Amino acid sequence: ESPKHNTEEKLQKVCHLLDQEISYFNWTGFYFKNGDKDELKLGPYVGAPTDHTIIPYGKGICGQVAVSNETFVVPDVHQESNYLSCSIDTKAEIVVPIFRDGQNIGQIDIDSHTVDPFTAEDRELLEWLCNEVSKVL
Ligand code: SME
Repeated sequence: ESPKHNTEEKLQKVCHLLDQEISYFNWTGFYFKNGDKDELKLGPYVGAPTDHTIIPYGKGICGQVAVSNETFVVPDVHQESNYLSCSIDTKAEIVVPIFRDGQNIGQIDIDSHTVDPFTAEDRELLEWLCNEVSKVL
């Protein structure tokens, strides 16, 4: 479900903060389940506009996380066959699911222009953040 209006502003700020603080975060955004459809809809983001505003469950890294319920760290996107390219500059990606009442309702998606940039601390930070975000949705 799409977040409420004031929530969208908060999520936009979260994107800006991450984008400013971590140099190798080059596209930072949220996707949420689109109503009762088995697809993701693009939410607030910072970075280049993407063609992937709707992503069916199972498609790409994001769509896989929608069904696996697990964080997906991709050190090198060129090694992935089920991947949706947003930018030719993107080399790596991390997607972390967001749960509410035990349901996977969305995710944060970060692309990097650097190969294998994401640390264990990044993953921990993003998983903590997604847990915090779920409380304001
Ligand atoms: N690369 C993603 C699509 C979303 S863009 O990165 C913003 C994927 O494979 O699902």
